[in-house]
Amino acid sequence: MTNDPINKTPIDAGVVKKKIDASGLEKVGLGAIRELVKLVNEIEKESGEKYIRMEMGVPGLPPSQIGIEGEIEALRKGVASKYPMIEGVDILKTEISRFVKNFMNIDVDSKNCIPTVGSMQGGMASFMVSCRRDVTKDTTLFIDPGFPVQKQQHKVLGLKFETFDVYNYRGEKLRAKLESYLSKGNISTILYSNPNNPSWICFTDAELQIIGELATKYDVIVMEDLAYFAMDFRKDMSKPGVPPYQPTVANYTPNYILLISSSKSFSYAGQRVGMLVISDHLFDRKFPDLKRFFKTDGFGYSMIYGAVYSLSSGTSHSAQYGLAAMLKAANNGEFNFVEIVKEYGERAKIMKKMFTENGFKIVYDMDEDQPLADGFYFTFSYPGMEGVDLLEKLLYYGISAIALATTGSERTEGLRACVSQIQRTQLPILEERLRIFNQHHKK
Ligand SMILES: Cc1ncc(COP(=O)(O)O)c(C=O)c1O
Repeated sequence: MTNDPINKTPIDAGVVKKKIDASGLEKVGLGAIRELVKLVNEIEKESGEKYIRMEMGVPGLPPSQIGIEGEIEALRKGVASKYPMIEGVDILKTEISRFVKNFMNIDVDSKNCIPTVGSMQGGMASFMVSCRRDVTKDTTLFIDPGFPVQKQQHKVLGLKFETFDVYNYRGEKLRAKLESYLSKGNISTILYSNPNNPSWICFTDAELQIIGELATKYDVIVMEDLAYFAMDFRKDMSKPGVPPYQPTVANYTPNYILLISSSKSFSYAGQRVGMLVISDHLFDRKFPDLKRFFKTDGFGYSMIYGAVYSLSSGTSHSAQYGLAAMLKAANNGEFNFVEIVKEYGERAKIMKKMFTENGFKIVYDMDEDQPLADGFYFTFSYPGMEGVDLLEKLLYYGISAIALATTGSERTEGLRACVSQIQRTQLPILEERLRIFNQHHKK
Protein backbone atom coordinates (compact mmCIF):
# COMPACT_ATOMS: atom_id res chain seq x y z
CA MET A 1 0.00 0.00 0.00
CA THR A 2 1.27 3.37 -0.86
CA ASN A 3 0.75 7.09 -0.91
CA ASP A 4 2.42 7.52 -4.34
CA PRO A 5 0.20 9.56 -6.69
CA ILE A 6 -0.66 6.66 -9.03
CA ASN A 7 -1.62 4.08 -6.43
CA LYS A 8 -2.71 6.46 -3.70
CA THR A 9 -5.30 4.89 -1.44
CA PRO A 10 -8.33 6.83 -0.18
CA ILE A 11 -7.01 6.70 3.40
CA ASP A 12 -3.44 7.78 4.24
CA ALA A 13 -1.49 4.52 3.93
CA GLY A 14 1.04 5.57 6.57
CA VAL A 15 -1.66 6.07 9.17
CA VAL A 16 -3.40 2.77 8.39
CA LYS A 17 -0.12 0.83 8.54
CA LYS A 18 0.90 2.48 11.79
CA LYS A 19 -2.42 1.69 13.47
CA ILE A 20 -2.44 -1.89 12.20
CA ASP A 21 1.07 -2.42 13.58
CA ALA A 22 0.11 -0.83 16.89
CA SER A 23 -3.07 -2.94 17.22
CA GLY A 24 -1.04 -5.92 18.41
CA LEU A 25 -3.21 -8.19 16.26
CA GLU A 26 -1.12 -10.92 14.71
CA LYS A 27 -3.36 -10.95 11.65
CA VAL A 28 -5.77 -8.04 11.37
CA GLY A 29 -8.02 -10.03 9.07
CA LEU A 30 -8.63 -12.56 11.84
CA GLY A 31 -9.52 -9.92 14.41
CA ALA A 32 -12.75 -10.29 16.38
CA ILE A 33 -15.52 -7.82 15.55
CA ARG A 34 -14.90 -5.61 18.57
CA GLU A 35 -11.14 -5.56 17.88
CA LEU A 36 -11.78 -4.31 14.36
CA VAL A 37 -14.22 -1.71 15.68
CA LYS A 38 -11.48 -0.37 17.95
CA LEU A 39 -8.86 -0.35 15.19
CA VAL A 40 -11.10 1.48 12.71
CA ASN A 41 -12.11 4.01 15.39
CA GLU A 42 -8.44 4.80 15.86
CA ILE A 43 -7.67 5.13 12.15
CA GLU A 44 -10.71 7.39 11.70
CA LYS A 45 -9.56 9.58 14.56
CA GLU A 46 -6.02 10.03 13.28
CA SER A 47 -6.77 10.26 9.57
CA GLY A 48 -9.89 12.43 9.96
CA GLU A 49 -11.60 10.21 7.33
CA LYS A 50 -14.87 8.34 7.85
CA TYR A 51 -14.99 4.65 6.99
CA ILE A 52 -17.70 2.65 5.31
CA ARG A 53 -18.25 0.59 8.44
CA MET A 54 -19.58 -2.83 7.73
CA GLU A 55 -17.91 -4.82 10.51
CA MET A 56 -20.49 -4.79 13.27
CA GLY A 57 -24.18 -5.74 13.24
CA VAL A 58 -25.61 -2.75 15.07
CA PRO A 59 -29.08 -1.54 14.13
CA GLY A 60 -28.78 1.65 12.10
CA LEU A 61 -32.40 2.70 12.63
CA PRO A 62 -34.01 4.48 15.58
CA PRO A 63 -35.98 2.42 18.13
CA SER A 64 -39.75 2.51 18.04
CA GLN A 65 -41.42 5.22 20.09
CA ILE A 66 -43.94 2.63 21.29
CA GLY A 67 -41.20 0.73 23.12
CA ILE A 68 -39.70 3.88 24.60
CA GLU A 69 -43.07 5.12 25.85
CA GLY A 70 -43.82 1.69 27.30
CA GLU A 71 -40.59 1.80 29.28
CA ILE A 72 -41.07 5.36 30.49
CA GLU A 73 -44.56 4.60 31.70
CA ALA A 74 -43.31 1.53 33.59
CA LEU A 75 -40.47 3.51 35.14
CA ARG A 76 -42.88 6.23 36.25
CA LYS A 77 -44.94 3.56 37.94
CA GLY A 78 -41.90 2.58 39.99
CA VAL A 79 -40.75 -0.75 38.48
CA ALA A 80 -37.08 0.28 38.82
CA SER A 81 -37.04 -0.46 42.55
CA LYS A 82 -38.58 -3.90 42.22
CA TYR A 83 -36.97 -7.17 41.21
CA PRO A 84 -38.75 -8.56 38.16
CA MET A 85 -40.11 -12.11 38.36
CA ILE A 86 -37.48 -14.41 36.84
CA GLU A 87 -39.94 -15.98 34.43
CA GLY A 88 -40.97 -12.53 33.15
CA VAL A 89 -43.91 -10.19 33.65
CA ASP A 90 -47.29 -11.61 32.68
CA ILE A 91 -48.13 -8.97 30.11
CA LEU A 92 -44.93 -9.68 28.18
CA LYS A 93 -45.33 -13.46 28.40
CA THR A 94 -48.83 -13.16 26.99
CA GLU A 95 -47.68 -10.91 24.13
CA ILE A 96 -44.79 -13.25 23.23
CA SER A 97 -47.21 -16.16 23.05
CA ARG A 98 -49.54 -14.09 20.85
CA PHE A 99 -46.56 -12.98 18.73
CA VAL A 100 -45.42 -16.50 17.89
CA LYS A 101 -49.02 -17.41 17.05
CA ASN A 102 -49.53 -14.34 14.88
CA PHE A 103 -46.19 -14.31 13.06
CA MET A 104 -45.15 -17.99 13.08
CA ASN A 105 -48.52 -19.71 13.43
CA ILE A 106 -47.37 -21.85 16.34
CA ASP A 107 -49.01 -22.43 19.71
CA VAL A 108 -46.90 -21.98 22.83
CA ASP A 109 -48.27 -21.49 26.34
CA SER A 110 -47.35 -18.06 27.72
CA LYS A 111 -45.76 -19.80 30.73
CA ASN A 112 -43.10 -21.16 28.35
CA CYS A 113 -42.25 -17.74 26.87
CA ILE A 114 -39.44 -16.17 28.89
CA PRO A 115 -37.76 -12.79 28.50
CA THR A 116 -33.96 -12.81 28.61
CA VAL A 117 -31.18 -10.23 28.59
CA GLY A 118 -30.92 -10.31 24.82
CA SER A 119 -30.88 -13.50 22.79
CA MET A 120 -27.29 -13.71 23.86
CA GLN A 121 -28.44 -14.67 27.34
CA GLY A 122 -31.24 -16.84 25.98
CA GLY A 123 -28.53 -18.81 24.16
CA MET A 124 -26.30 -19.07 27.20
CA ALA A 125 -29.15 -20.29 29.42
CA SER A 126 -30.28 -22.79 26.79
CA PHE A 127 -26.77 -24.21 26.37
CA MET A 128 -26.56 -24.62 30.16
CA VAL A 129 -29.67 -26.79 30.17
CA SER A 130 -30.01 -28.33 26.73
CA CYS A 131 -26.37 -29.41 26.47
CA ARG A 132 -26.28 -30.91 29.97
CA ARG A 133 -29.50 -32.88 30.03
CA ASP A 134 -28.00 -36.24 29.10
CA VAL A 135 -24.50 -37.47 29.99
CA THR A 136 -24.24 -39.35 26.73
CA LYS A 137 -25.11 -36.29 24.67
CA ASP A 138 -22.40 -33.76 25.41
CA THR A 139 -21.83 -32.00 22.08
CA THR A 140 -23.58 -29.22 20.18
CA LEU A 141 -23.76 -29.22 16.42
CA PHE A 142 -23.54 -25.79 14.82
CA ILE A 143 -24.86 -25.52 11.31
CA ASP A 144 -22.34 -22.93 10.17
CA PRO A 145 -21.45 -20.27 9.17
CA GLY A 146 -22.53 -18.70 12.43
CA PHE A 147 -22.29 -16.12 15.12
CA PRO A 148 -18.84 -16.55 16.75
CA VAL A 149 -19.94 -15.55 20.27
CA GLN A 150 -22.04 -18.71 20.61
CA LYS A 151 -18.88 -20.77 20.29
CA GLN A 152 -17.25 -18.50 22.83
CA GLN A 153 -20.18 -19.29 25.16
CA HIS A 154 -19.47 -23.00 24.69
CA LYS A 155 -15.83 -22.49 25.61
CA VAL A 156 -16.76 -20.51 28.71
CA LEU A 157 -19.18 -23.25 29.78
CA GLY A 158 -16.70 -26.04 29.00
CA LEU A 159 -19.04 -27.59 26.42
CA LYS A 160 -18.03 -29.43 23.28
CA PHE A 161 -19.17 -28.60 19.78
CA GLU A 162 -18.86 -29.74 16.21
CA THR A 163 -19.62 -27.69 13.10
CA PHE A 164 -19.96 -27.90 9.38
CA ASP A 165 -20.43 -25.28 6.67
CA VAL A 166 -23.87 -25.75 5.13
CA TYR A 167 -22.81 -24.20 1.78
CA ASN A 168 -22.37 -27.57 0.06
CA TYR A 169 -25.26 -29.29 1.85
CA ARG A 170 -28.33 -27.36 0.88
CA GLY A 171 -31.65 -29.07 0.16
CA GLU A 172 -31.92 -32.85 0.39
CA LYS A 173 -28.11 -33.12 0.80
CA LEU A 174 -28.57 -31.74 4.30
CA ARG A 175 -30.21 -34.98 5.47
CA ALA A 176 -27.23 -37.30 5.01
CA LYS A 177 -24.83 -34.69 6.33
CA LEU A 178 -26.84 -34.13 9.51
CA GLU A 179 -27.40 -37.83 9.97
CA SER A 180 -23.64 -38.46 9.78
CA TYR A 181 -23.32 -36.41 13.00
CA LEU A 182 -26.55 -37.35 14.76
CA SER A 183 -26.15 -41.09 14.28
CA LYS A 184 -23.03 -41.03 16.47
CA GLY A 185 -25.34 -40.36 19.44
CA ASN A 186 -23.30 -37.60 21.12
CA ILE A 187 -25.19 -34.56 19.79
CA SER A 188 -27.48 -32.87 22.31
CA THR A 189 -28.42 -29.74 20.43
CA ILE A 190 -28.42 -28.31 16.91
CA LEU A 191 -28.05 -24.57 16.49
CA TYR A 192 -28.41 -22.35 13.44
CA SER A 193 -29.60 -18.84 12.71
CA ASN A 194 -32.31 -18.20 10.13
CA PRO A 195 -31.91 -15.84 8.27
CA ASN A 196 -28.29 -16.70 8.76
CA ASN A 197 -25.67 -14.43 10.22
CA PRO A 198 -23.27 -14.01 8.37
CA SER A 199 -24.34 -15.42 5.00
CA TRP A 200 -28.02 -14.38 4.90
CA ILE A 201 -29.04 -17.76 3.54
CA CYS A 202 -32.56 -18.67 4.60
CA PHE A 203 -33.49 -22.30 5.05
CA THR A 204 -36.39 -23.48 2.94
CA ASP A 205 -39.29 -25.33 4.51
CA ALA A 206 -37.95 -28.55 3.01
CA GLU A 207 -34.66 -28.01 4.86
CA LEU A 208 -36.38 -27.14 8.13
CA GLN A 209 -38.44 -30.30 7.77
CA ILE A 210 -35.26 -32.38 7.42
CA ILE A 211 -33.79 -30.76 10.53
CA GLY A 212 -37.02 -31.28 12.48
CA GLU A 213 -37.52 -34.90 11.46
CA LEU A 214 -33.97 -35.83 12.37
CA ALA A 215 -34.18 -33.96 15.67
CA THR A 216 -37.19 -36.06 16.60
CA LYS A 217 -35.59 -39.28 15.37
CA TYR A 218 -32.39 -38.77 17.40
CA ASP A 219 -33.99 -36.89 20.28
CA VAL A 220 -31.91 -33.80 19.71
CA ILE A 221 -33.05 -30.29 20.69
CA VAL A 222 -33.08 -27.66 17.96
CA MET A 223 -32.19 -24.12 18.99
CA GLU A 224 -33.48 -21.89 16.24
CA ASP A 225 -31.88 -18.47 16.45
CA LEU A 226 -34.27 -15.93 14.95
CA ALA A 227 -32.15 -12.84 15.48
CA TYR A 228 -33.43 -11.51 12.13
CA PHE A 229 -37.09 -12.40 12.59
CA ALA A 230 -39.27 -11.81 9.50
CA MET A 231 -36.35 -10.13 7.73
CA ASP A 232 -36.34 -12.35 4.64
CA PHE A 233 -37.91 -9.53 2.67
CA ARG A 234 -38.73 -11.72 -0.33
CA LYS A 235 -41.90 -12.59 1.60
CA ASP A 236 -44.16 -10.18 3.43
CA MET A 237 -44.42 -11.65 6.92
CA SER A 238 -45.60 -8.43 8.49
CA LYS A 239 -49.34 -9.12 8.86
CA PRO A 240 -50.45 -10.72 12.13
CA GLY A 241 -52.40 -13.94 11.67
CA VAL A 242 -51.94 -13.90 7.88
CA PRO A 243 -49.56 -16.17 5.94
CA PRO A 244 -46.75 -16.28 4.94
CA TYR A 245 -45.29 -16.78 8.40
CA GLN A 246 -41.69 -16.80 9.60
CA PRO A 247 -40.57 -20.32 8.58
CA THR A 248 -39.65 -22.45 11.58
CA VAL A 249 -38.53 -25.91 12.61
CA ALA A 250 -41.35 -25.76 15.19
CA ASN A 251 -43.62 -27.04 12.42
CA TYR A 252 -41.58 -30.23 12.19
CA THR A 253 -40.44 -31.26 15.69
CA PRO A 254 -41.68 -30.77 19.26
CA ASN A 255 -38.04 -30.54 20.49
CA TYR A 256 -37.42 -26.87 19.91
CA ILE A 257 -36.26 -23.68 21.56
CA LEU A 258 -36.68 -20.37 19.72
CA LEU A 259 -34.41 -17.42 20.39
CA ILE A 260 -36.14 -14.29 19.19
CA SER A 261 -34.10 -11.13 19.49
CA SER A 262 -35.57 -7.65 19.66
CA SER A 263 -32.24 -6.09 18.65
CA LYS A 264 -32.60 -6.01 14.87
CA SER A 265 -36.27 -6.55 14.04
CA PHE A 266 -37.29 -3.94 16.63
CA SER A 267 -34.03 -1.88 16.64
CA TYR A 268 -33.89 -2.43 20.39
CA ALA A 269 -30.34 -3.75 20.84
CA GLY A 270 -29.40 -1.29 23.58
CA GLN A 271 -32.06 -2.47 25.99
CA ARG A 272 -30.80 -6.06 25.91
CA VAL A 273 -34.16 -7.79 25.91
CA GLY A 274 -34.94 -10.94 23.97
CA MET A 275 -37.41 -13.81 23.97
CA LEU A 276 -36.74 -17.44 24.82
CA VAL A 277 -39.60 -19.66 23.68
CA ILE A 278 -39.62 -23.32 24.70
CA SER A 279 -42.09 -25.73 23.13
CA ASP A 280 -44.82 -26.90 25.50
CA HIS A 281 -43.65 -30.47 25.02
CA LEU A 282 -40.01 -29.76 25.81
CA PHE A 283 -40.75 -27.46 28.74
CA ASP A 284 -42.52 -30.28 30.57
CA ARG A 285 -40.00 -32.99 29.77
CA LYS A 286 -37.90 -34.55 32.53
CA PHE A 287 -34.20 -35.38 32.19
CA PRO A 288 -32.70 -37.09 35.27
CA ASP A 289 -29.16 -36.00 34.31
CA LEU A 290 -30.16 -32.37 34.81
CA LYS A 291 -30.00 -33.04 38.54
CA ARG A 292 -26.20 -32.92 38.26
CA PHE A 293 -26.54 -29.15 37.87
CA PHE A 294 -30.05 -28.17 38.89
CA LYS A 295 -32.49 -28.91 41.69
CA THR A 296 -34.98 -30.74 39.52
CA ASP A 297 -35.09 -32.85 36.40
CA GLY A 298 -37.68 -30.58 34.75
CA PHE A 299 -36.41 -28.92 31.57
CA GLY A 300 -38.41 -25.69 31.78
CA TYR A 301 -38.03 -25.37 35.53
CA SER A 302 -34.25 -25.79 35.27
CA MET A 303 -34.15 -23.16 32.54
CA ILE A 304 -35.93 -20.53 34.62
CA TYR A 305 -34.96 -21.25 38.22
CA GLY A 306 -31.57 -22.78 37.43
CA ALA A 307 -30.04 -21.07 34.39
CA VAL A 308 -31.77 -17.66 34.02
CA TYR A 309 -31.80 -17.21 37.81
CA SER A 310 -28.07 -17.80 38.15
CA LEU A 311 -27.20 -15.63 35.15
CA SER A 312 -29.06 -12.42 36.01
CA SER A 313 -32.14 -13.11 38.16
CA GLY A 314 -34.37 -12.14 35.29
CA THR A 315 -34.51 -9.33 32.77
CA SER A 316 -34.62 -5.55 33.27
CA HIS A 317 -38.13 -4.64 34.40
CA SER A 318 -38.67 -1.56 32.21
CA ALA A 319 -37.25 -3.23 29.09
CA GLN A 320 -39.83 -5.99 29.51
CA TYR A 321 -42.62 -3.42 29.47
CA GLY A 322 -41.09 -1.68 26.44
CA LEU A 323 -40.98 -4.94 24.50
CA ALA A 324 -44.49 -5.87 25.66
CA ALA A 325 -45.80 -2.56 24.29
CA MET A 326 -44.17 -3.11 20.88
CA LEU A 327 -45.35 -6.71 20.64
CA LYS A 328 -48.87 -5.76 21.65
CA ALA A 329 -49.01 -3.11 18.94
CA ALA A 330 -47.58 -5.56 16.37
CA ASN A 331 -50.03 -8.29 17.45
CA ASN A 332 -52.94 -5.88 17.14
CA GLY A 333 -51.86 -4.90 13.64
CA GLU A 334 -51.12 -1.32 14.73
CA PHE A 335 -47.34 -1.41 14.29
CA ASN A 336 -45.67 -2.82 11.18
CA PHE A 337 -42.19 -3.57 12.52
CA VAL A 338 -41.10 -5.29 9.28
CA GLU A 339 -41.84 -2.29 7.06
CA ILE A 340 -39.35 -0.20 9.02
CA VAL A 341 -36.42 -2.61 8.76
CA LYS A 342 -36.99 -3.23 5.03
CA GLU A 343 -34.61 -0.31 4.56
CA TYR A 344 -31.74 -2.76 5.18
CA GLY A 345 -32.82 -4.85 2.20
CA GLU A 346 -32.94 -1.78 -0.04
CA ARG A 347 -29.44 -0.77 1.00
CA ALA A 348 -28.10 -4.29 0.52
CA LYS A 349 -29.47 -4.41 -3.03
CA ILE A 350 -27.68 -1.18 -3.99
CA MET A 351 -24.46 -2.13 -2.21
CA LYS A 352 -24.27 -5.63 -3.70
CA LYS A 353 -24.61 -4.11 -7.16
CA MET A 354 -21.75 -1.70 -6.43
CA PHE A 355 -19.52 -4.55 -5.32
CA THR A 356 -20.26 -6.81 -8.28
CA GLU A 357 -19.83 -3.97 -10.76
CA ASN A 358 -16.36 -3.38 -9.40
CA GLY A 359 -14.91 -6.85 -9.71
CA PHE A 360 -16.17 -8.39 -6.47
CA LYS A 361 -18.21 -11.60 -6.22
CA ILE A 362 -21.05 -12.49 -3.86
CA VAL A 363 -19.99 -15.63 -1.96
CA TYR A 364 -23.21 -17.12 -0.57
CA ASP A 365 -25.62 -16.28 -3.36
CA MET A 366 -28.43 -18.86 -3.54
CA ASP A 367 -31.12 -20.50 -1.40
CA GLU A 368 -31.29 -23.76 -3.31
CA ASP A 369 -32.65 -22.53 -6.68
CA GLN A 370 -33.62 -18.99 -5.58
CA PRO A 371 -31.31 -15.96 -5.46
CA LEU A 372 -30.54 -14.95 -1.90
CA ALA A 373 -32.61 -12.25 -0.26
CA ASP A 374 -31.22 -8.75 0.26
CA GLY A 375 -30.99 -8.11 3.98
CA PHE A 376 -28.88 -7.15 6.94
CA TYR A 377 -25.69 -8.90 5.73
CA PHE A 378 -24.13 -10.08 2.52
CA THR A 379 -20.88 -11.86 1.76
CA PHE A 380 -18.31 -10.95 -0.87
CA SER A 381 -14.87 -11.81 -2.19
CA TYR A 382 -12.34 -10.46 -4.69
CA PRO A 383 -10.84 -12.90 -7.21
CA GLY A 384 -7.43 -14.27 -6.27
CA MET A 385 -7.46 -13.00 -2.68
CA GLU A 386 -7.95 -14.73 0.66
CA GLY A 387 -10.49 -13.05 2.91
CA VAL A 388 -8.05 -12.08 5.65
CA ASP A 389 -5.80 -10.32 3.13
CA LEU A 390 -8.74 -8.65 1.42
CA LEU A 391 -9.95 -7.31 4.76
CA GLU A 392 -6.57 -5.80 5.54
CA LYS A 393 -6.27 -4.26 2.05
CA LEU A 394 -9.75 -2.76 2.19
CA LEU A 395 -8.79 -0.86 5.34
CA TYR A 396 -6.55 1.31 3.16
CA TYR A 397 -9.60 2.09 1.03
CA GLY A 398 -11.74 3.16 3.97
CA ILE A 399 -13.91 0.02 4.06
CA SER A 400 -14.23 -2.37 7.00
CA ALA A 401 -15.86 -5.81 7.27
CA ILE A 402 -15.17 -9.15 8.99
CA ALA A 403 -13.62 -12.32 7.59
CA LEU A 404 -15.87 -15.33 7.00
CA ALA A 405 -12.99 -17.44 8.28
CA THR A 406 -13.94 -16.29 11.79
CA THR A 407 -17.51 -17.59 11.43
CA GLY A 408 -16.97 -21.28 10.75
CA SER A 409 -17.31 -20.78 6.99
CA GLU A 410 -15.15 -22.83 4.65
CA ARG A 411 -15.35 -19.99 2.16
CA THR A 412 -12.19 -18.40 3.48
CA GLU A 413 -11.98 -16.07 0.48
CA GLY A 414 -15.05 -14.24 1.76
CA LEU A 415 -15.88 -11.29 3.97
CA ARG A 416 -19.16 -10.39 5.65
CA ALA A 417 -20.59 -6.94 5.08
CA CYS A 418 -23.22 -5.54 7.40
CA VAL A 419 -25.31 -2.86 5.72
CA SER A 420 -26.97 -1.39 8.81
CA GLN A 421 -24.62 1.49 9.55
CA ILE A 422 -24.22 2.72 5.97
CA GLN A 423 -26.31 5.79 5.31
CA ARG A 424 -27.64 6.45 1.81
CA THR A 425 -25.46 9.57 1.62
CA GLN A 426 -22.36 7.38 2.00
CA LEU A 427 -23.18 5.15 -0.96
CA PRO A 428 -21.44 7.30 -3.61
CA ILE A 429 -18.31 7.27 -1.41
CA LEU A 430 -18.45 3.49 -1.17
CA GLU A 431 -18.80 3.23 -4.93
CA GLU A 432 -15.80 5.48 -5.51
CA ARG A 433 -13.64 3.54 -3.04
CA LEU A 434 -14.58 0.22 -4.64
CA ARG A 435 -13.77 1.64 -8.06
CA ILE A 436 -10.29 2.72 -6.92
CA PHE A 437 -9.69 -0.64 -5.23
CA ASN A 438 -10.62 -2.48 -8.41
CA GLN A 439 -8.44 -0.17 -10.51
CA HIS A 440 -5.46 -0.94 -8.27
CA HIS A 441 -6.00 -4.70 -8.09
CA LYS A 442 -7.59 -6.02 -11.27
CA LYS A 443 -5.36 -8.33 -13.21
C1 LIG B 1 -27.27 -14.83 14.94
C2 LIG B 1 -27.36 -13.96 16.14
N1 LIG B 1 -27.78 -14.47 17.30
C3 LIG B 1 -27.88 -13.70 18.39
C4 LIG B 1 -27.55 -12.37 18.39
C5 LIG B 1 -27.63 -11.58 19.65
O1 LIG B 1 -28.86 -11.00 19.83
P1 LIG B 1 -29.18 -10.07 21.08
O2 LIG B 1 -28.74 -8.69 20.73
O3 LIG B 1 -30.66 -10.19 21.24
O4 LIG B 1 -28.43 -10.61 22.27
C6 LIG B 1 -27.09 -11.79 17.20
C7 LIG B 1 -26.70 -10.38 17.17
O5 LIG B 1 -26.01 -9.92 16.30
C8 LIG B 1 -27.00 -12.61 16.05
O6 LIG B 1 -26.56 -12.13 14.89
